[in-house]
Amino acid sequence: MSSLDDGLNKDLDKIVASARDAIATATDLAALEQVRVQLLGKKGEVTALLKALGKLPAAERPAAGVEINRAKTALQKEITTRKAQLLKTDLDSRIQSAALDVTLPGRHTDIGALHPITRVLNRIEDFFLGVGYDLVEGPEIEDDYHNFEALNLPAHHPARAMHDTFYVNPEILLRTHTSPVQVRVMEKRQPPLRIICPGRAYRVDPPDPSHAPMFHQVEGLFIDQDISFADLKGTVIEFLRVFFEQDDLQVRFRPSYFPFTEPSAEVDVVCVHCFGDGGGCRVCNHTGWVEVMGSGMVHPRVLEYADIDAEKYTGFAFGMGADRLAMLRYGVDDLRHFLDNDLRFLQQFQ
Ligand code: DAH
Repeated sequence: MSSLDDGLNKDLDKIVASARDAIATATDLAALEQVRVQLLGKKGEVTALLKALGKLPAAERPAAGVEINRAKTALQKEITTRKAQLLKTDLDSRIQSAALDVTLPGRHTDIGALHPITRVLNRIEDFFLGVGYDLVEGPEIEDDYHNFEALNLPAHHPARAMHDTFYVNPEILLRTHTSPVQVRVMEKRQPPLRIICPGRAYRVDPPDPSHAPMFHQVEGLFIDQDISFADLKGTVIEFLRVFFEQDDLQVRFRPSYFPFTEPSAEVDVVCVHCFGDGGGCRVCNHTGWVEVMGSGMVHPRVLEYADIDAEKYTGFAFGMGADRLAMLRYGVDDLRHFLDNDLRFLQQFQ
């Protein structure tokens, strides 16, 4: 054997040995293709050996050629086999990851729902927005002036006793009703005014079935020329009949007192539980009627506080308890359920 022949054989052995290794350890199709190009591509190592054949003495060429081609064919076969293996594992893993096991329990998603108070607020808002009122919100942390003073409730006024609240300091407090939003709107805008103001209010009331330190109100205010108590009655009665979905719902206006309205009235609806029977009914305290809001004609002094000409304009206002309305609408006998966040209770309103 010539030295050249010897060298070629050695090269071939080395190439084949490391090629086998590379083929066996290629972990994906791209890596395998890289190995194939390195060996058998145009500039591949085996290709280079074939090209070098010409440099061999003519007598040795045929035998060397046979050797190289055998190695080439063997490597090609190994590459094909490995390729088939890799394809199969790739497919297997793709099938596995995409597989759907129909025997597994389904994935559970909780579907949320609006809180019953939110639903009641939405109902109230829908009605009043539908008849042309604007929705206005105001701060829950209020000052003494807007919560009391400008509503004709000066510091010494006995009606303040019913509005004990949480004070940040003697001037700043958690609002005891949504009425201060009326004041804030009147300060900024001149009549005609038609607004509702939903929101939270606070009072130092020990919790019981019909009281909580935080509750919800919707305030209403309508100011224009020639507005009378008849407009108040018409609006409130129509609202309550729509709200309770009872065309003939009985509503009564009971004379009352609020410092910011004159005359004032409390509004009762016939008890939606005992339908006015009264006797033995816990919801209406045996009276057959349930109070749902305060109302009245806006006191001229309240208009004057806000620089609205009380000679020219009149108006009515009302403030309803959204929690009370929710209790009546959904037949809930304890206000505190709304605040407990007990899902067993809340899920009933989905
Ligand atoms: N702000 C009163 C309260 O919380 C409710 C109320 C009564 C509001 C009469 C009004 C009204 O606007 O005119 O007790």
